[in-house]
Amino acid sequence: MIAKFGSSWAEVWLLVLGVVLSSCRSSDTAKTEAEPASGTTPAAASTADVIEIGLLAPFSGPFASLGAQIEGGIKAYLDTQGGTIDGRKVELLVRDTTGVPDVAKRLAQGLIVRDQVDFLAGFALTPVAMAVAPLATEAKKPMVIMNAATSSITTKSPYVVRVSLTLPQVTAPLATWAAKNGIRNVYSLVSDYAPGADAEAQFKKTFEAAGGKVVAADKVPVNNPDFAPFVQRVKDAKPEAVFVFVPAGTQGIAFMKAAHERGLGEAGIRIIATGDLTEDQQIDPMGDAALGVVTTHHYSAAHTSPENDVFKAAFAKVAGTQLRPNFMAVGGYDGMAAIAAVVRKLGPGKIDGDRAIEAFKGLELTSPRGPLRIDAETRDVVQTVYVRKVEKRGEHYYNVEFEEYPAQKDPGK
Ligand code: PHB
Repeated sequence: MIAKFGSSWAEVWLLVLGVVLSSCRSSDTAKTEAEPASGTTPAAASTADVIEIGLLAPFSGPFASLGAQIEGGIKAYLDTQGGTIDGRKVELLVRDTTGVPDVAKRLAQGLIVRDQVDFLAGFALTPVAMAVAPLATEAKKPMVIMNAATSSITTKSPYVVRVSLTLPQVTAPLATWAAKNGIRNVYSLVSDYAPGADAEAQFKKTFEAAGGKVVAADKVPVNNPDFAPFVQRVKDAKPEAVFVFVPAGTQGIAFMKAAHERGLGEAGIRIIATGDLTEDQQIDPMGDAALGVVTTHHYSAAHTSPENDVFKAAFAKVAGTQLRPNFMAVGGYDGMAAIAAVVRKLGPGKIDGDRAIEAFKGLELTSPRGPLRIDAETRDVVQTVYVRKVEKRGEHYYNVEFEEYPAQKDPGK
């Protein structure tokens, strides 16, 4: 099935909305333990002594794991700083978007008008980031994207800054690597929404420029329950490899299950993907089926550096040892580190949105993922992209980095 991008977007999000409304608590009351004054009274609007951050992410519904990772990452960074920045207390106002753009808009409005937060942060999913961006412009509020990865998000408001990744940024090196390593024809299979469209387009552009051929391009619904029919079509087309983008969370496991059951490996079809497929939280449940899958991404829990050791220890302290931090957690950690750097740079006094966004431009961090810079012109992240292969170490599975592409900008702009 080649689904049409424009029409299926609305359908998919209505579907997600249905699932969410039938299965979730009210987003107003979600995560109330983190809402100041239960979110009912006019908040202690941020003062010069308190930095208030409105965290918008999904904590229920199909993408709940994304919110938990981002929140864990933010809290891990704050823990390394004793909970304060420059002697100022940090308050996190956590709001559950449930992954639905209209819910996120309403919650963002409350954070801006009633709570008067200094920063909006989080944004796991592209449609939510796109929906909130105009509100950030209107209110002149810095909006820190800790995951959402569609290239064009940073162009939707001059107040958006991104510390995570873009799909074209991590996809281009994979296409280059595949062409260099003798893969000549590839079947493209992506989730049917904006990041998937970005991934599909960039893979084709880079791979075909390097002499490869994308033999077919198929799309799956965003919250797809069963990959069997899609995987069967891949198998029937007999490509040398299938290129996959699915959002982090349960989709990766659903794809790998179908790939295993349909015997893609036995048919000699390699799986190559952006790192969302084998993200750290979901890789162990995939088990041996994931061995040998080659992906490109900006973060692996197996990355060896002192900064990653500090990050993982802090994350375990705030979120427990059962949850392995993934790239979303690093997005939260680095996003919080970037906010802290901006607060320190601005000095005492109430945060001014315009001065804050200027301070983000050109910012450099040594992240648990490696070096990171915010491009002063685009407000987008520049970073190393690693090529990794899934390997088993002891009882656990990891994305083991074996090649790197330093200082990658978003090729989408
Ligand atoms: C996105 O919606 O932009 C998104 C979500 C999950 C991912 C990557 C991108 O793993």
